[in-house]
Amino acid sequence: MVLKSKDLLGLKELTAEEIEYILNTAKTMKYILISKNKKTPHLQGKSIVTLFYENSTRTRLSFELASKYMSASSANVSASSSSVAKGETLIDTAKTIDMMGTDVIIIRHPMSGAPHLIAKNINASVINAGDGMNEHPTQALLDMFTIVEKKGSLKGLKVAIIGDIYHSRVARSNIYGMTKLGAEVCVAGPATLLPPEIEKLGVKAFNTVQEALIDADVVMGLRIQLERQKKGLFPSIREYSRFFGLDEKRLKLAKEDALIMHPGPVNRGVELSSGVVDCEKSLINEQVTNGVAVRMALLYLLTRRDSVENIN
Ligand code: CP
Repeated sequence: MVLKSKDLLGLKELTAEEIEYILNTAKTMKYILISKNKKTPHLQGKSIVTLFYENSTRTRLSFELASKYMSASSANVSASSSSVAKGETLIDTAKTIDMMGTDVIIIRHPMSGAPHLIAKNINASVINAGDGMNEHPTQALLDMFTIVEKKGSLKGLKVAIIGDIYHSRVARSNIYGMTKLGAEVCVAGPATLLPPEIEKLGVKAFNTVQEALIDADVVMGLRIQLERQKKGLFPSIREYSRFFGLDEKRLKLAKEDALIMHPGPVNRGVELSSGVVDCEKSLINEQVTNGVAVRMALLYLLTRRDSVENIN
């Protein structure tokens, strides 16, 4: 099998088979990641560049480490310390990186559709590491990988995503991906933080956290994304925490063996109590490890497309 596109722009565009293929490849990568010798030759001779216009710890570092573990040449560009600050356009910056022999550009940008725009203008593969409020496909893939690792499959599971759904590219990608793999996804959040079109995506939406949590197999908390908010339209942190914060008492509504997840970074005491972050059911640390495995898989699959196409 080969991924149809040269790029990974969103889970909206992927088939269920492609998602499963990526998750299965990540399983192999996880064995390498947790072994004593992590160095593999899978990306020898390949060049990977991260181009970030927004802050990141997990996504950027896990791509960088994934590249290094698989023997690629890798480099990072921060928009704030590059020629972007001198007025260079997004396409010109991407073309400049492309012309240096780069095989994969991983981009995070505040504008929805930025990765799609550069993908049309360059030869390198483009991976979307988060575009505005649109998608964060690699986060959703690692979330799904983590759930499948624990539960065997997503089919028939009830997944409750709680909080600022409107601004969340993580929620959007997870909704596309998880529904394709057969999960029942429901969301809960303040009315002003639920996108009006949400039910068209095949999910149930609730205005109380309690309704969404009942019998959930997986509970995912989200931080309130202040960086994307227009002033005055949304609840205060205190209201958000009071009505949609997840603590041990509220989580009793979910199944006893429910998995607790969060894409990070977590605001302890706001969307999750500190006790929940550190509880036995919390997979937040495992999500981080799995993020490296999933990104290793993606880099491998996207850079081998040419050779597989030629063989076929
Ligand atoms: N989950 C996530 O995207 O984290 P970072 O912003 O640290 O990359």
